[in-house]
Amino acid sequence: MGIKRKKQSPVCLLEPVSEPFALVIFGASGDLTKRKLIPALFNIYKESLVPERFFILGTARTEYSSIEFRDILSEHVTTDALWQNFKRHLFFQPIDYNDRITYITLRKTLKRHEKTFQTKGNRLFYLAVPPQLTEDIVKMIGESGLAESEGWKRIVVEKPFGWDLPSAKRLNELLQRYFKEEEIFRIDHYLGKETVQDILLFRFANSIFEPIWNRNFIDHVQITASESIGVEKRAGYYEKAGIIRDMFQNHILQLMSLIAMEPPALFEPARIREEKVKVFRSLREITRADIPEYTVFGQYIEGVIDGQKVVGYRDEEGVRKDSHTPTFAALKVFIDNWRWQGVPFYLRSGKRLKRRVTEVSIHFKTVPHSIFKNVLSEEIKPNVLVFRIQPDEAIELTFQTKIPGTTLCFREVTMNFSYRQQDHSMPEAYERVLMDCLRGDHLIFVGQEGVEKAWEFFTPILKFLDKGKKLIFHINDYRAGTWGPPEAEEFIRRDGRQWWVR
Ligand code: BG6
Repeated sequence: MGIKRKKQSPVCLLEPVSEPFALVIFGASGDLTKRKLIPALFNIYKESLVPERFFILGTARTEYSSIEFRDILSEHVTTDALWQNFKRHLFFQPIDYNDRITYITLRKTLKRHEKTFQTKGNRLFYLAVPPQLTEDIVKMIGESGLAESEGWKRIVVEKPFGWDLPSAKRLNELLQRYFKEEEIFRIDHYLGKETVQDILLFRFANSIFEPIWNRNFIDHVQITASESIGVEKRAGYYEKAGIIRDMFQNHILQLMSLIAMEPPALFEPARIREEKVKVFRSLREITRADIPEYTVFGQYIEGVIDGQKVVGYRDEEGVRKDSHTPTFAALKVFIDNWRWQGVPFYLRSGKRLKRRVTEVSIHFKTVPHSIFKNVLSEEIKPNVLVFRIQPDEAIELTFQTKIPGTTLCFREVTMNFSYRQQDHSMPEAYERVLMDCLRGDHLIFVGQEGVEKAWEFFTPILKFLDKGKKLIFHINDYRAGTWGPPEAEEFIRRDGRQWWVR
């Protein structure tokens, strides 16, 4: 079953970037730059969404020349004639993150290119570095005068924003020393995904669902962010981060806030942030005593994914043989307000699971009385509304129909809106994120209070997890290629429910 699109001209809100700019990427020899940032910038360049007067200055400890930098990046894009033009805008300057002299050299290089490309001193600093480097770099940017120019200046900080509540506050104070709040962009790339942005439009640009978007009609909500990839080459970071810092404190709570928030009076960054923060403020605390009932943790052991044997987490390069870092978690969370009282939100995420899928499903209540109970042996299944964030991006609604024939048989069918069938292209999250930084638009970025509230919520859990060894019995093994530890199935079954994505 599909959706017929009525022909009408689209209502568009976004404009191309109009001002010239310099983009300085810290950590430019890393994976994020190669795999996400440069391909995204090249795409928006191809679509003429950025002006010709710009350049990208990569910097990192690696001693690349600009030519080497361009060659390495060429391996990650389709190198057509436009790439030849684009790459003339790419430069590299090595740096020692703790040595002020190298920042001064960087500033000189920056100024030289600014003259050539006439970028009017507009500077966007992008910190694509591991979190332990962030504070030092911000300090050096401030102290070396890099952030002083006659144009606008902005800074982009990747998640995790801080490592816990105190470090998030410290980082924020440091940023505020050199940048104004409107110059700071805290990225959660999930908010740049088309399907995530559409949650707000779906909820607040349609009138039929909002009246039933509450505890009177919704039984529970599930959010699953499942990955089939393992820890890859990021063990150094992941060993310390684990699944809660990597996925829950940011991506999953952000998704949850979009589902749970009240309608803001206007589609405006400050108002949207405020409504999201209200959700975080209403999260029911998971205390130490609640942990066994409200959480399940796991770590993958060897298994098979897509027909390939894969090693267990402890055998990944750079992981300790006795590591207790969780690579899977399932949580039950409540929001203590009028709309959501008593409605559980089941949140689940893990690495090396059966397949890659991110979905939010809203499970409505069953019919209050079945008039079919005299003729049907089974219970009537409740309606489910699904936001498939990725892959096969879609919005789906399940409902019951009669199977045609002389007998009375029910079946569940799905009404499906598939983005890819309707639209030619789905831009990458980083395209939107970068465009917004360059336009100075904060709509899809996270505010400081939201960051702090999210850390606050996870503090008791993190304290427990960071103790590691002593609490080993709580980290359950799960075979790579499954849906996580069997304890996670039991966790939701206890409540008389089951995971939607299987
Ligand atoms: C990142 C995490 O923020 O998100 C990674 O650090 C994770 O561990 C990634 O793999 C998932 O992003 P996406 O867009 O592939 O769902």
